[in-house]
Amino acid sequence: MYAAVTLFVFMCLTATTHADHHQPCHSPNMTGFMSVTNLKGEVKAYGAFTYDSMGKKLRFRSNESYPTNTSVGLELLMFFDEGIFYEIDSKNQSCEKKTLHCTLHPLDIPDDATFNVMVNSGSPTIEGEGLKVNVWTGSMADSKGHYSMFVTMGCLPVTTVYFCESTSFIFSTMDVELEIKDPDLLVVPSYCLGLPVEETPEGTVNSFLNEFM
Ligand SMILES: *[C@@H]1O[C@H](CO)[C@@H](O)[C@H](O)[C@H]1NC(C)=O
Ligand SMILES: *[C@@H]1O[C@H](CO)[C@@H](O)[C@H](O)[C@H]1NC(C)=O
Ligand SMILES: *[C@@H]1O[C@H](CO)[C@@H](O)[C@H](O)[C@H]1NC(C)=O
Ligand SMILES: *[C@@H]1O[C@H](CO)[C@@H](O)[C@H](O)[C@H]1NC(C)=O
Repeated sequence: MYAAVTLFVFMCLTATTHADHHQPCHSPNMTGFMSVTNLKGEVKAYGAFTYDSMGKKLRFRSNESYPTNTSVGLELLMFFDEGIFYEIDSKNQSCEKKTLHCTLHPLDIPDDATFNVMVNSGSPTIEGEGLKVNVWTGSMADSKGHYSMFVTMGCLPVTTVYFCESTSFIFSTMDVELEIKDPDLLVVPSYCLGLPVEETPEGTVNSFLNEFM
């Protein structure tokens, strides 16, 4: 995480925006772990995710007890194409179905992102000691912030930083595998079926990022 921040600062200082011939890539199916940290250093969440890149579905379950009390207990099942998501509490098998207003999320580069720079993190010449990443940037839908995504050559998102008005967030992925290990995690649980969509209070924008604010 700190490496990512350093990387970003480095990028701001030295990189000029390249002429853009690049099209954003789309990440493959993935299973792994994700951490969410704000710039105050609080780990907001850490947990397992499953991502279906074609179906644009994401399950994320945070580990409430790890690593500190500031983390939020959260289980989400998001359907980006349908524009809905579920907040799940599997302990008491309860569920809320909500409208998704913004499809931005840290596992896929938005189509309108701008290629910024390619960075060789670590050592490019010593095997196993370097990581080559492309940096993609863009604005948030409400233009109240912007994001930078650090993505491997194979299109695996390593770190995404959202710079917002109120606070900023760093999403990092770890131990990623290129498959959906448990497809059932992307199926709406039976106790969530047939629920009405919750009303959204005025002024609230539902997005993946908002779940951690
Ligand atoms: C990704 O997972 C979905 C759902 O299991 C599957 O339909 C699709 O074929 C997978 N894509 C790849 C490239 O494996
Ligand atoms: C949460 O983290 C704790 C401590 O690392 C671990 O013992 C526990 O199995 C984890 N639970 C889940 C649901 O991942
Ligand atoms: C977490 O909260 C529990 C109960 O409120 C408290 O006993 C414990 O000391 C807290 N742990 C940390 C690391 O703050
Ligand atoms: C389930 O538990 C959560 C907190 O753990 C609570 O907020 C929610 O109201 C509970 N739902 C039901 C249906 O009991």
